[in-house]
Amino acid sequence: MNCKTAVILAAGAGTRMKSEKPKVLHEICGKPMVSHVTSQAAAAGSENIIIVVGHGADKVQSQLADQGLSFALQTEQLGTGHAVMMAKDQIPDEGDVFVLCGDTPLITAETLKKFAAYHTEKKNAVTVLTAVFENPFGYGRIIRGADDQILKIVEQKDASEEEKAVKEVNAGMYCMNAVFLKSNITKLSSDNAQNEYYITDLIAMAVESGNGAGAYIVEDSDEIMGVNNRVQLSQASDVMRKRIAEKHMVNGVTIIDPSRVYIEDDVVIGNDTEIWPGAVLKGKTVIGKGCMIGADCQIENSTVGDGTDILKSVIKDSSIGENTHVGPFAYLRPGSEIGSGCKIGDFVEVKKARMGDGSKASHLAYIGDADIGEDVNIGCGVIFANYDGVHKFRSTAGDRAFIGSNSNLVAPVNIGADAYVAAGTTVTVDVPEGALCVGRSREVIEEGWVEKKGLSKKKR
Ligand code: UD1
Ligand code: CA
Repeated sequence: MNCKTAVILAAGAGTRMKSEKPKVLHEICGKPMVSHVTSQAAAAGSENIIIVVGHGADKVQSQLADQGLSFALQTEQLGTGHAVMMAKDQIPDEGDVFVLCGDTPLITAETLKKFAAYHTEKKNAVTVLTAVFENPFGYGRIIRGADDQILKIVEQKDASEEEKAVKEVNAGMYCMNAVFLKSNITKLSSDNAQNEYYITDLIAMAVESGNGAGAYIVEDSDEIMGVNNRVQLSQASDVMRKRIAEKHMVNGVTIIDPSRVYIEDDVVIGNDTEIWPGAVLKGKTVIGKGCMIGADCQIENSTVGDGTDILKSVIKDSSIGENTHVGPFAYLRPGSEIGSGCKIGDFVEVKKARMGDGSKASHLAYIGDADIGEDVNIGCGVIFANYDGVHKFRSTAGDRAFIGSNSNLVAPVNIGADAYVAAGTTVTVDVPEGALCVGRSREVIEEGWVEKKGLSKKKR
């Protein structure tokens, strides 16, 4: 395989998307469409990837910055052939080149490798990737001669009725000999229904000049699905989600209903983990082995240790250790680091807080800007009051500290190891190790008060 260079066309306006955003930046499973193409090209062996940008060039270039990609600018979108012309000077003078589209995000490295191998084996100047579609509308048609050899590609808008009946379509992906490409690309004409320079005309040129053109039919036609509008965007997303879910299932993850989970491409999940319907797993999330991700959890850029279970909770930019229970209805905001064997129960919100192994906040608490040791108990209704309206402060609770229900810890305060805070206390000073802090007034009991006041509702 020697397609060391890949040119990816991504300058088109994408009018049919009806969007302010350039088409190729629309996302499929959390990644811009064009990034799926660049990563598959790279995985297929392309080291030099040139993106042709034009419509929304700044946005595309800045979103794809720092990924080792090169860019060629097509200021006017005069067609796919014209787009390749813009990259001509960056294409090496030898070897083979992939020409791919930024709007066909389902192509895989495996197919690209087989495609390139076929191209090399047949010694073609140009090989086009094709598929057979029941409904070929909108795609360029592959026109073959009597001997089944490819003759040319005809665009939908230029096709005769007979040509429109052809079901074999152009995927918009090509493997080309660099010498042939560079010496013929500038010879394209725009004499067609759209007055555009079509890359597809290179096929007929190769046939006519006797340089050899071929077609490689893709095994799974889903891979070449082009995205031109939002209906197709959702159809491509469906395929990608299914593919990702299947990868995890093959790796030993149980997914109760694969049609009802959203898992982005880079998410890692250990075996024997169960994923229930409605789970949304995004970004660089890593989930360990034997976990239970319950219904309707949203987990983003977070790490979850082995054996942890999470029910109906939202977790962002955080880490959770092993065998910890989270939820239902917990909210871990960015910067939360929860240890192993912990419990973050219902209606507990945590923000930028560390919690050591074995610590528990079982219900209804706000833990913001805190450093909590091991085996600490945080009672129901505890609030780490971290904000004075202007500044935020941190508080600490040492190992085995017990923070009674409905306490307020007015930051910054430090609760020593083994210390107790009595239920209902508002703590504004540090509590030494092993001490008890009670901050509430004594109850007053008046015997017989109800009778005395004549308030008794007892039946006489
Ligand atoms: C193109 C093919 C068609 C094929 C289909 C597969 C041509 C003439 N037609 O049609 O045979 O079946 O793809 O999906 O090539 N682009 C540029 N600059 C331009 C025009 C387009 O960079 O001036 C880029 C677009 O951003 C897009 C890709 O090229 O990523 C394809 O362009 P698009 O307009 O979508 O072509 P199709 O009509 O789909
Ligand atoms: Ca297209």
